[in-house]
Amino acid sequence: MTLVLGIGLRAGTSYRELRDLVDRALTGVVGAVESVVTVEGRENEPGLQRLVASLGAQLLVASSVDLADQQVPSPREHVGELAGTASVAEAAVVLSGAELVVPKLKSAGATVAVGVLGPAAPGYSSADREVVHRVIAERRDVRRGFLDKPVDDELLTRVLEAAHRAPSVGLSQPWDFLLIRDVATRRKIHDLASAQRDAFAASLPADRRSVFDGLKIEAILDTPLNIAVTCDPARGGRHVLGRHADPRTVWFSAAIAVQNLWLAARAEGLGVGWVSFFDPAEVGAVLGLPAHVDLLGYLCVGHVSEFAAAPELVRSGWAARRPLSWAVHQEQWGYRGLPGAEPSTTAALRDAAGSSVRVGGGSQVARVVVVDGGSGAEHLGAADVLVVQVGAEKPAADFGVLWRPARTADEAVELGVEVARDLVLQGVGELQVSSVGDSVLAERLTQGIRWGGLACGAAVKGVDEPAAVTDSPA
Ligand SMILES: Cc1cc2nc3c(=O)[nH]c(=O)nc-3n(C[C@H](O)[C@H](O)[C@H](O)COP(=O)(O)O)c2cc1C
Repeated sequence: MTLVLGIGLRAGTSYRELRDLVDRALTGVVGAVESVVTVEGRENEPGLQRLVASLGAQLLVASSVDLADQQVPSPREHVGELAGTASVAEAAVVLSGAELVVPKLKSAGATVAVGVLGPAAPGYSSADREVVHRVIAERRDVRRGFLDKPVDDELLTRVLEAAHRAPSVGLSQPWDFLLIRDVATRRKIHDLASAQRDAFAASLPADRRSVFDGLKIEAILDTPLNIAVTCDPARGGRHVLGRHADPRTVWFSAAIAVQNLWLAARAEGLGVGWVSFFDPAEVGAVLGLPAHVDLLGYLCVGHVSEFAAAPELVRSGWAARRPLSWAVHQEQWGYRGLPGAEPSTTAALRDAAGSSVRVGGGSQVARVVVVDGGSGAEHLGAADVLVVQVGAEKPAADFGVLWRPARTADEAVELGVEVARDLVLQGVGELQVSSVGDSVLAERLTQGIRWGGLACGAAVKGVDEPAAVTDSPA
């Protein structure tokens, strides 16, 4: 909802006083403040200007004559005699065309009223919405079943136009699309992917490797068209709006272009498979990318005989989809739950250990060692060992060491539950968990891993059955 604040104030009213009053007025009101309206003559008040800036709103000014013309619920005659209008705050809201939802509130030197602007813009019809959700749900990463049929230029242009309409930080549009049809070039790229595939396979524990061997991870030579999507992180020069604080946003922008491409392609019946088994610099060398341009994604594109109903990694048992309720937090990290549902608490996570909600069902065994501090790497060894490090200091990057810097015992439990859930989603069916040393945080996180594993139906070695897990995590 778009909100309007009407504000009347005495000269010299402080920002703090205004802020407290506005916070009080906005309690329980959902929406963003788009504008603040005040009476002519008060617009340069420092307290008001700071308030408007802090709200990210625009400041509008109304004349006392216009304000005096408005019908408001609580006019004050003596204010009218002094200011030329019997109401500033409420009248300003009404004058802006908003519906008054919070009548005037007062502090020592100011008044504020809140209005809601017009009805919300209409969404699409339910049939149109259905199509949008359908293409999102039916988009697939495709690696099999490509047809020997060229991709029509007009169709491809439509798909590229959809990609090119993606949002981008500061409208920097950092992407380019390099279309590759030449078989010799694709062979070179294919060789690079094969080498990476072999390296990944060699890093896997035996049970995981046997599943991986049955997976197809690219369709570089099976598709008539490959598209390298690139990102120029410096495009637009020095003053790209929004990129200054977070340079990663250029990468986000280019990745969204890929998603647009992927969805538009699905609607056209065109399969797309993203391949990331590459050292990007090696691909860049084959494709002649200039040094300032980076490879973002490499896509294999072509017509297909069918689109699978579920991701190949799900159908093969390699990984499972994460429930939305695990991914949604309410107000503070860790309070997970869908909109309208009670968010989970540590006690609920513990109780859930007794009622298996099987999400994975993989055969992989993972040995998990929880440590407090240090690099953690000294506990690595075999490929099935994962170290969880709870210390405050971030260890050197290593995918074998998960950094989970718990701040409290409750948070340690919550983080542990998530570690277990994520492992189960990645095919782990048995967890062998231990903690090193006598750190409370490490011990709580270990407990969380056990509860999380049990709740997902994994076998958790060396721990009590769920019914016996009754100790309080606090
Ligand atoms: C950034 C990115 C890189 C990916 N790299 C590969 C890859 O190298 N090989 C592969 O088979 N799939 C790759 N995928 C596809 C994912 O495995 C796939 O999106 C996921 O399993 C979900 O399946 P769905 O896209 O059909 O819903 C990649 C996906 C993304 C977003």
